[in-house]
Amino acid sequence: MFQVKVPATSANLGPGFDCMGLALRLYNYIQAEESEKLEIILKGTYTSNIPANEKNLLWKTACKLWQKIDFQPRPLKITLESHVPPARGLGSSSTAVVGGLIIANAVAGNPLNRLQLLEVASEIEGHPDNVSPALCGGITLTVMDENKLIPRTLAKFPKFKAVVVIPDILVETEKARGILPASVSRTDVIFNASRVGLLVDAFIKEEYDLLAIATQDRIHQNQRASLIPGMPEALKSAVLAGAYGAALSGSGPTLIAFCPHGKEDQIALTMKGVLQENGLPSEALTLDID
Ligand code: HSE
Repeated sequence: MFQVKVPATSANLGPGFDCMGLALRLYNYIQAEESEKLEIILKGTYTSNIPANEKNLLWKTACKLWQKIDFQPRPLKITLESHVPPARGLGSSSTAVVGGLIIANAVAGNPLNRLQLLEVASEIEGHPDNVSPALCGGITLTVMDENKLIPRTLAKFPKFKAVVVIPDILVETEKARGILPASVSRTDVIFNASRVGLLVDAFIKEEYDLLAIATQDRIHQNQRASLIPGMPEALKSAVLAGAYGAALSGSGPTLIAFCPHGKEDQIALTMKGVLQENGLPSEALTLDID
């Protein structure tokens, strides 16, 4: 019997489009054992729209890994207990990819190390910003150099809480990527590059007061505002309510605010209020970084 829990993740953290992310203490739990035929049992909070057959992403990922390492596929009985909401910008597909790879690797006797698994995960996802923290934990920066990845863990247990505000709409990553312009201006590149540098330094040195500036972005958040009514205003309201900084989580619709202890409820209430004024009901969770 193999068991793994894979955390929800928040990608981008503002300016770090496709390269920065963090793991949250909210998990999907996966159990797998060899069986006579493929069997997928779905449990937990979010089970609808997850296929319980060979189209299941976790299973498809496991098969992909076995094919890559030339390992004869074998049927599994998989139990997935799902608590990470799908299509909300919290890395639910990454939990399936990372979970599928870890299980398949374990069944094959663990021939691949963590970096190799990360490279396969990133190839499947198309970008490493969710799979990297899902596999390594903490706050991560991952550099892609052709097919090689250089993952860096910037902090493991930062001294702030994450408030995640989850609007009651679904945003498919493909659509949220499709609306981004193909090129950005030099001014915006400089704006984002300087803030990624500041963000990395602020996380390492625990200088969280810099996060209000360091989480600013010009290359994807506002461009996605049409998909999430009230998002830019809700992010600003988080900082005014006392958050260190706030960002769109992945491709949305979830927003994430980095909060000093004790201010989480007020920040959550303020952000939810702004979204509600824009006709968008939401729920909020306060989570630790994993
Ligand atoms: N970096 C990706 C994006 C994350 O923003 O499109 C999506 O999961």
